[in-house]
Amino acid sequence: MNANDATTLRLARPDDWHLHLRDGDALRAVVGASAAQFARAIVMPNLRPPVATVEDALAYRKRILAALPEGARFTPLMTLYLTDRTSVDEIRRARDSECVHAVKLYPAGATTNSDAGVTDLRRAAPALDAMQAAAMPLLVHGEVTDPQVDVFDREAVFIDRVLVPLRRDFPALRIVFEHVTTREAVQYVEHAEGDIGATITPQHLLYDRNALFAGGLRPHRYCLPVLKRETHRRALVAAATGGNPRFFLGTDSAPHAARLKEHACGCAGCYSAPHAIESYAAAFEAAGALDRLEAFASFHGADFYRLPRNVDRIELRRQRWTVPDALPFGADTLVPLAAGETLGWKLVR
Ligand code: NCD
Ligand code: ZN
Repeated sequence: MNANDATTLRLARPDDWHLHLRDGDALRAVVGASAAQFARAIVMPNLRPPVATVEDALAYRKRILAALPEGARFTPLMTLYLTDRTSVDEIRRARDSECVHAVKLYPAGATTNSDAGVTDLRRAAPALDAMQAAAMPLLVHGEVTDPQVDVFDREAVFIDRVLVPLRRDFPALRIVFEHVTTREAVQYVEHAEGDIGATITPQHLLYDRNALFAGGLRPHRYCLPVLKRETHRRALVAAATGGNPRFFLGTDSAPHAARLKEHACGCAGCYSAPHAIESYAAAFEAAGALDRLEAFASFHGADFYRLPRNVDRIELRRQRWTVPDALPFGADTLVPLAAGETLGWKLVR
């Protein structure tokens, strides 16, 4: 970081290593916000139907580029949705495509649009073997779906039941443990052998689970994996600010129309894209670690994905501003994460 005085923060342009952009009107409503903040993003494949083939991914990539506002520069890095049927040939096509950078594992039923996910990892063994050979990262939604397991324990149980055996069976597989939310996940990533990274969202750095019930039910803070206890939040802050290159920025910005979150059965997902870097800056500043933000936001992820670091820079200014209560979302509205709250930094360019 070449300047970190009281009023200005300059850093290499960050990338978002976990982003939901949706499709159609929703895509058009949100893609500009990410492009204003980030140079690149790993784009999640959980559309309906999922982005399961290279052909799907290339078509989706075109729609993303077409939806960008005039003059925006933004590179979508595509992913495939791992299913019970993902073939070895598809993985090879992905490797040769130069547009597909990873494959996402959603345990079937774990989260939004995940019913096409993997029912039994043994079925995906040929694809995982091919990914290991191709150095293609597997991005993992790390929660078991077993209804017997308490929702707050599903990530920790996933480590023992799925991740440890997966690592044993595919020791050279490159893995990203997405949106880690617990101390157990942080410790696993810190100590695991082999090539592994983890993304951390702004909401899991800023809020603990009490924030879900502060004065009443707060649906716009509800995402999966769900917010955890304060001890876990602190472990995440320590990981994000600790300088370990295994941890990097991934917003998991996941827009849902306000009416579907303010609902008897509300959707999971927080929309943080428009003020993502400002939110991370708030978390890092609270930890007295603003000087560690650039490595987490702009270097570690690019290094893990073996892509060049961005050379252009962004600038944040110290300025108090209030996150809007609502934003347009096609015919709907979107309530962003931290709506109505004050942030202390503002992206100016
Ligand atoms: C995501 C979504 O809405 O697509 N929701 C979420 O709560 N994070 C899905 C996901 O990444 O789990
Ligand atoms: Zn996600």
